[in-house]
Amino acid sequence: MPPAEGEAVYDYITKTNPYQSWSFYPGKDKFYKGRHPHGALLTSYVNDVALKGINDKVGTLADGAIIVKENYMPDKKLGAVTVMYRVKGYDPDAGDWFWAKYKADGSIAKAGKVAGCIGCIGCIGCHAAVINNDWIFTGPVK
Ligand code: HEC
Repeated sequence: MPPAEGEAVYDYITKTNPYQSWSFYPGKDKFYKGRHPHGALLTSYVNDVALKGINDKVGTLADGAIIVKENYMPDKKLGAVTVMYRVKGYDPDAGDWFWAKYKADGSIAKAGKVAGCIGCIGCIGCHAAVINNDWIFTGPVK
């Protein structure tokens, strides 16, 4: 598995183990409707570790679980790709998730322990609303 680092994770999910070959998030299809701040249309993929954890309702996904979400404009133009990657011991205060947002061209918009800033709410701040579902909004993991 890649280190918790923006470029290494992007390389992994696009070259080593391309996410578009993974399963969709259980219960979701291509281009389902998203909410602010993500895209108007979303397509989410889960790797094997995440898929097994979600299907088995483990409560907390195992080390190495990755969820990749494509965020599309209403016209189905790709806007960004957001990632949650579980790295045991990486950030115990925030569920040990590594967070990343890549622009459509693959460049890094945000990566790491993305907490937010004054006047803006980051990945961690918002996803904390679903801390009891392993910080995941899209579907139940327990
Ligand atoms: C203001 C709230 C908010 C912020 C900020 C936010 N998210 Fe999300 N995120 C959501 C919601 C709500 C969903 C469920 C999908 C939807 O309906 O848009 C979601 C879904 C996801 C998913 C799919 C897995 C899941 O948790 O459901 C990933 C991956 C993700 N977000 C990554 C990120 C990253 C990375 C950032 C920071 C760059 C971020 N999010 C910032 C609210 C937020």
